[in-house]
Formats: sequence, C-alpha cells, structure tokens
Amino acid sequence: MTGTVPETAGQEQVPQFPGVRAARCPFDPPPELRALQESGPLTKVRLWDGSTPWFVTRHAEQKALLSHPKVSADVTRPGYPIHTPAAGGGSLSFILMDDPEHARLRRMVQGAFTVRRVEGMRPAVQRIVDDLIDQLLAGPKPVDLVEAFALPVPSLVICELLGVPYADHGFFQDNSKTIIKRSVTPEDRAVAFGKLYEYLDGLVGEKLADPADDLLSKVAAHVRDGELTRQAAAQMGVLLLIAGHETTANMIALGTLALLQNPAQLALLRDSDDPKLVAGAVEELLRYLNITHSGRRRVALEDIEIAGQVIRAGEGIIMPNDIGNRDPGVFPDPDRLDVRRDARRHVAFGFGVHQCLGQPLARIELQVVYGTLYRRIPTLAAAVPIEEIPFKHDGQVYGVYELPVTW
Ligand code: HEM
Repeated sequence: MTGTVPETAGQEQVPQFPGVRAARCPFDPPPELRALQESGPLTKVRLWDGSTPWFVTRHAEQKALLSHPKVSADVTRPGYPIHTPAAGGGSLSFILMDDPEHARLRRMVQGAFTVRRVEGMRPAVQRIVDDLIDQLLAGPKPVDLVEAFALPVPSLVICELLGVPYADHGFFQDNSKTIIKRSVTPEDRAVAFGKLYEYLDGLVGEKLADPADDLLSKVAAHVRDGELTRQAAAQMGVLLLIAGHETTANMIALGTLALLQNPAQLALLRDSDDPKLVAGAVEELLRYLNITHSGRRRVALEDIEIAGQVIRAGEGIIMPNDIGNRDPGVFPDPDRLDVRRDARRHVAFGFGVHQCLGQPLARIELQVVYGTLYRRIPTLAAAVPIEEIPFKHDGQVYGVYELPVTW
C-alpha cells in the first residue's frame, strides 16, 4: 500500500490534527494521539488549511525522518505543513533552513553552546536562581511563579549570553509570546516580529560599533567580515532570544506543577543531593512534558519509503515528539512520571541536524532550578486548584500562563 490517501477515500476519513491536551491530565498528549499511535507509526491528518500531511507517531520513525537527508525544514517549500495562518510572517533564521546554509549559520554560534562552555556558566546560573529565590521568600505570597521565577531565570541567562539588556525583558517577552501563539492573527504576528527584529537589528548595530564579550558581538563580527548580512544577523538574534527563554521558562513552571501533582516524585528530588538523580529528573521531565508539543514539521524532497508506506516528494510531515516520547516500545509505562527512569532517549530536543542548539544550556538551567527550588522552599505548593490554572493550549510551546504558588 502506498502512503497517499486513496483517491476514493472520503475527505472525512482523514482525522483532524489532534486537539489540546486533556483536562483529565494536562501533562498527557491528547487522547486521539495515543489512538493514532496505536493504529500504526504513520497516518495522515487534516490541518486548518485542509492540507493532509503525514503524521508520524512512533519514536523510531520520528528519529529516522528527522535525520533523513531528503527531508526539509524549509518553511517556504510547497507542502510544508504550516502551523497557523499567521506562520511565515518573518523568518526565524536557520531553524527553518536546510543545509548547507543552515549548517553555515549554526556553526557561527554553536561554539557558545558546547557542554564545556555552558558548564562554565553553572555558577552564574546558580547565583541567578538563588537571588530570585531570596526575592521570592522576602516578598508577598501567594505569588505567580511564572512572572517571579520561571521567566526571569532563562531571560537573565540568555540576556547575559547574548549581550541583550535585561531591562528590556518586558518588551521582548511580550513580543515573543505573541509570535509563538497559535491563535495569533497574521497582522499581529507580523507586528510583533517586526518590533523584535528592529530591536535586534539596533543591538547588532551597537555591537558593530562597540563590540563586547558576548554572543551578539560575535554575530556582528560575521557581518563586519562579510559572512552574514545585517538582516540575517538580526533574524538569528531573534531566534536565539526567543528560543533561549520561552522554552526553558515553560519547562520550569510546568515541571514544577507536574512535580507538585506527583508529591512522591517531588520528594525524591527534594531529598536527594545526588546530581545524577537531578540530571535524570531533568531528562524525565523533558520527556514527560514535551513542551514543543505541536510537533517537528518537515516536507519530503524525494519519495521516502518508511514503515511500509511511501511519503511522496512534496508531502508534508509532522512529528509530534510528545507522543514519540510516550512510545511504550521505548519507554515502558510511558504515562508515568518517574524521575529515576533512564529517559535519555527522549526527543524533546528534536533529533538530526536541527536538534536543539541550546540543549546544554537548557539542561544546566533546569538542573540548577529543579535541584535548588524545592530544597530551598520545601513547603512550596500551588495556591489554587489545578482546574484554575490557565494552560497554553493555544501556544506552539506548551506550558502555563500563570502558576500561583505559596509556601
Ligand atoms: C527546555 C528547553 C528547550 C527545549 C524543550 C527546546 C526544544 C527544541 C527543539 C525541539 C528544537 C528542534 C526544532 C526542529 O527540529 O524543528 C530546538 C531547536 C533549537 N533550539 Fe531549543 N529548546 C530549548 C531550549 C533552548 C535554549 C535555551 C536555546 C538557546 C538559545 C535554544 C536554541 C535553539 C535553536 C537555536 C534551535 C535551532 C537549531 C537548528 O535548527 O539547528 N533552545 N529546540
């Protein structure tokens, strides 16, 4: 059988793109996703625009396709499965490009994200986390953990790394929130992107005139040397700034909520001073929560045979890594949060050439946060019932808008 939908098949036979995570357990992928996974590794789904890309639900096929040389991440190619009508307004640099240009641009910044380099940032991250916890403890309660802690930690870290003034955090957090909203209009997304782009372009200009010891100055140096246009430099800055704080912030807040809902797991983490257990808990929470839940998106450049199907050249492919991370063939009892399991094979950072550039940094931030917050505030608790917590069902990155906590 080929992979295309049979000509005779009624359009209604292709299910809609699965909806939001269930209220029953807001940490689990939508139940329809589990059903699709059980029915086979590949199927087709219908998107908002009527297109019917492939939908790949199992871990092995997701990894095979994410590392396939004939699969493209270029959002401008016909057949690419677009997230929302608003997508495409403003380029997000190399995350949406193919090699060799993707590799050329990625190489310009990857030196800042090696394990060794970011390990050197651990003491600074620890200081940031400790200071924010001091402020939390000295302030009123209940308090919104997102605003007071989850967003400031990665924002302060990425500002320091890039050389972006933290005083501007309200501006860039608001605009990046708009850009990654699924429900945003094309006009609003374009405005938000334009503002962030202009801001980063201005900063690149400043770094060209007056270089400092930061990543944006290194990017600016490539402009000066004629290896990068000023526009591409600003776009890269937008990508790094958004990716650098949005994702980690959501992992901090959602991870804390998941642990508060699983007190025995929280106790294991809080009562252990074994850095290996903390590091393992980070991997397990990345697997379990998979905040980049709307899936890796690609388009086939040639016919690809996989799992008894043929993905035709030009057909879109979506790989929802949240269900890939719940593949029972790879992670036994996958819906159970177990901070002691070996979760290292998860695909929460993607796979293949686009695998998350910032993952060593994200790991350190999360290890410091999960290893510190619950030990320093052992009575930390949600201040409202879980039903009252607003989840980001309309975001390209999953999380909570607010998490009122007390202690
Ligand atoms: C827990 C936090 C994070 C998660 C879950 C996460 C997740 C991901 C995922 C799934 C991808 C792959 C995209 C694709 O294949 O289409 C990705 C790519 C990327 N991430 Fe992260 N990320 C996190 C933190 C960070 C941080 C702190 C940075 C720092 C700047 C960062 C920068 C990037 C960049 C630049 C890419 C594009 C890589 C490429 O296309 O070659 N991420 N991330």
